[in-house]
Amino acid sequence: MSRVAVIGTGYVGLTTGACLAHLGHAVVCADIDQAKIELLQSGRIPIYEQGLEALVADGLATRRLQFVVGAAQAVEDARAEFVFLCVQTPQGPDGSADLRYVEQASAEIGPALATGAVVITKSTVPVGSARVVERALARTDVAVVSNPEFLREGQAVHDCLHPDRIVIGSDDQAAAAKVAALYQGLNAPAMVTDPATAETIKYACNAFLATKVSFINAIANLCQAVGADVRDVVLGMGYDKRIGFEFLKPGPGWGGSCFPKDSRALVRIAEDAGYDFELLKGVIAVNDLQFRLLADRIAELAGGAHTNPVVAVWGLTFKAGTDDLRDSPAISVVERLLAGGATIKAYDPTVNRTLPAHFDHLDIEVCDDPYAACAGAAVLTVLTEWDEFRWLDFEKVAGVMAAPAILDARNLLDPISLRRRGFVYEGLGRK
Ligand SMILES: NC(=O)c1ccc[n+]([C@@H]2O[C@H](COP(=O)([O-])OP(=O)(O)OC[C@H]3O[C@@H](n4cnc5c(N)ncnc54)[C@H](O)[C@@H]3O)[C@@H](O)[C@H]2O)c1
Repeated sequence: MSRVAVIGTGYVGLTTGACLAHLGHAVVCADIDQAKIELLQSGRIPIYEQGLEALVADGLATRRLQFVVGAAQAVEDARAEFVFLCVQTPQGPDGSADLRYVEQASAEIGPALATGAVVITKSTVPVGSARVVERALARTDVAVVSNPEFLREGQAVHDCLHPDRIVIGSDDQAAAAKVAALYQGLNAPAMVTDPATAETIKYACNAFLATKVSFINAIANLCQAVGADVRDVVLGMGYDKRIGFEFLKPGPGWGGSCFPKDSRALVRIAEDAGYDFELLKGVIAVNDLQFRLLADRIAELAGGAHTNPVVAVWGLTFKAGTDDLRDSPAISVVERLLAGGATIKAYDPTVNRTLPAHFDHLDIEVCDDPYAACAGAAVLTVLTEWDEFRWLDFEKVAGVMAAPAILDARNLLDPISLRRRGFVYEGLGRK
């Protein structure tokens, strides 16, 4: 059992803290958001993440998991041997990762650290950030280790407890070995590299996955143009063991809290190092184009430009299984539809009628049920792949719409049965 402090209780910090407590460590998690900490202390969680609330409740019950306000407080209360930095690293104005929260948290914990403590950066940070953390800590008697996180929102607990691999970046072999030992209960390969390599692995993974999605979206657009069926193309590709099926699902584009900022940060990291990462710039351009192409197709299906249609939108989150709206492709498409004069009525199983404050600019109606969103709509578009959308009553949907037309931007629904019910159905690169 080790004594651990986790700084930041967002998607990564809360999952990390709860999972480390589950593995038997004594964990104190900190945030600067007092309301969030009070909620967590009461056993509830501020995000939608399968299995996490139960794990937090379990940690509170066994007293292996505690929540406090303030990073230094957590380090002191935990008498921490290990401190995980899990704060946000948003995109800065020039595309690079903004390290201000990492620096701030490091500066706060610096004076509170015990000699020999290990500070572990789990936030996604650019190459060279270990030095930034060291400087902000202003301590020469503690170790700094990079340990990037690869969890997927929606499956965060599973991914944290069953990682494909654990990457540890450090020039201090003893500190790296101590961090690896924290994860001993997990049956996962651990690799130790230098910090720059560990930091690059994280960005390379996200850039590669974004590339796969942009690639299959481009292929879907090609299928649309030449009359091929992308679902069979993916099948034919995926059986090839060198390619596989993962991340080859056409959609409205990639988004979420990581891919957009991390891909742009990697372009910037390369630029600063004198390398023009043209491939990744192309991947980003294909994605931006995808939002526009979709908005145009939806408007077209609704009767063409200048008709100011009512558009029903199913799905607002960046993917199914989460309530996260950050950089959601659905929102990007909705913004373009609004700019074109459409009225939007939306439904998402994890989004309330009132959107979070930073979406105030979105003049849309969020409905309590999927049918209400379709009332009077000239077209329905599916923008997030929530499974429940497949099982709805499409007779009822057709009955409330102004015209039964669907643009299925996730290729989620069954075209044959919908066309039989009188719908005009369009998918992405699908017959
Ligand atoms: N969300 C993901 O799926 C995911 C996956 C892998 C890696 N990451 C990376 O992990 C990092 C965190 O991501 P996230 O989605 O959990 O972010 P988040 O915004 O959900 O959470 C960050 C939390 O840190 C808190 N915080 C900020 N400064 C603090 C301070 N000084 N003291 C205490 N708390 C502080 C914030 O209040 C917030 O609750 C980012 O670098 C991200 O790129 C995220």
